[in-house]
Amino acid sequence: MARIFNFSAGPAALPEAVLERAREEMLDYQGSGMSVMEMSHRSKTFVAIAEQAEADFRELLNVSDDYHVLFLQGGATTQFAAIPLNLTAAGDTVDYVDTGSWSKKAIKEAGKYCSVNVVASSAETNYDRIPGPARWQLSADARYLHICSNETIGGVQFHNLPDTEVPLVADMSSDFLSRPMNVDQFALIYGGAQKNIGPAGLTVVVVRKDLCGNARPETPTPLDYAVQADADSMSNTPPTYGWYLAGLVFAWLKDLGGLEAIDAINRRKAGKLYAAIDNSNFYHSPVDPAVRSHMNVPFTMPDAELDAKFVAGAEERGLSGLKGHRSVGGMRASIYNAVPEAAIDALVEYMHEFENEHG
Ligand SMILES: Cc1ncc(COP(=O)(O)O)c(C=O)c1O
Repeated sequence: MARIFNFSAGPAALPEAVLERAREEMLDYQGSGMSVMEMSHRSKTFVAIAEQAEADFRELLNVSDDYHVLFLQGGATTQFAAIPLNLTAAGDTVDYVDTGSWSKKAIKEAGKYCSVNVVASSAETNYDRIPGPARWQLSADARYLHICSNETIGGVQFHNLPDTEVPLVADMSSDFLSRPMNVDQFALIYGGAQKNIGPAGLTVVVVRKDLCGNARPETPTPLDYAVQADADSMSNTPPTYGWYLAGLVFAWLKDLGGLEAIDAINRRKAGKLYAAIDNSNFYHSPVDPAVRSHMNVPFTMPDAELDAKFVAGAEERGLSGLKGHRSVGGMRASIYNAVPEAAIDALVEYMHEFENEHG
């Protein structure tokens, strides 16, 4: 068996130790005689798995009792609709910052339910920066302010949170659990699991309790936060195996030393890659240095004709998933929590060699 270095944007690399543990437990979970996949979500065994995962998640992010933590289906995209359905009434206004492709999708979906005010946008510069909050055109009466804390495609990340009185909502799909975060600054945080948390199919929502219970009557029942909170995320069948794997990832993160420890590792990894880009005249980062993502690192070369060659050569060396998104071009290295530092070292070495040959 050969494991390769996986730079995919998501679904993405999972910690090897987690996969091994899942393998060990695959056929007979702790003497139950069955796989977690085959177990009733109402069984004592699964409820214990679910509770432990939630407890570990709360511990990692220091989530207080003022918040529900929900483990749902549907992906972040479903939350693009669930958020306005739960937090607004018809005719309400909401504020969104447009920092990239995922913000844009969230804005479009919210527009089906309320009046969306785009407070600022970096679309004109192909999403290479985050417009300074001082210039945001906030509404007087927005129900919430939405940001995407890390744009997976453009590679821009909020390193400082906006200071706002309005309830702050964040799509953290691609930087959840990658660094410490003061949850109390948010009304709601959400994300699909398939980057830093676990496999695709699981969606994690952290929502302030006092904001739940006013969903619009037409809200589909599984998307109603109050209903799901009352049912411990089991109003319908939850994504049980994803929840279990997420629990293994949380335990792995705790063993590693928690979010301060992973943040230090992530900064070191990103630092090495950006240094390789900045110290060359061959590679280029299209992103404003102040907001460069520690998770998704796009880079280009002087001649786009070389992109395919770079990616093919990388694949040959066991460096997978480096093709950039078509909207940005070039390459993109996604370096989530589970991507080991050795993967970045191998990539940097390959970049040097490729530059020597083609630069
Ligand atoms: C930042 C961000 N938001 C939302 C999504 C959409 O998530 P999903 O495919 O889980 O609906 C993604 C996708 O991968 C993402 O990177």
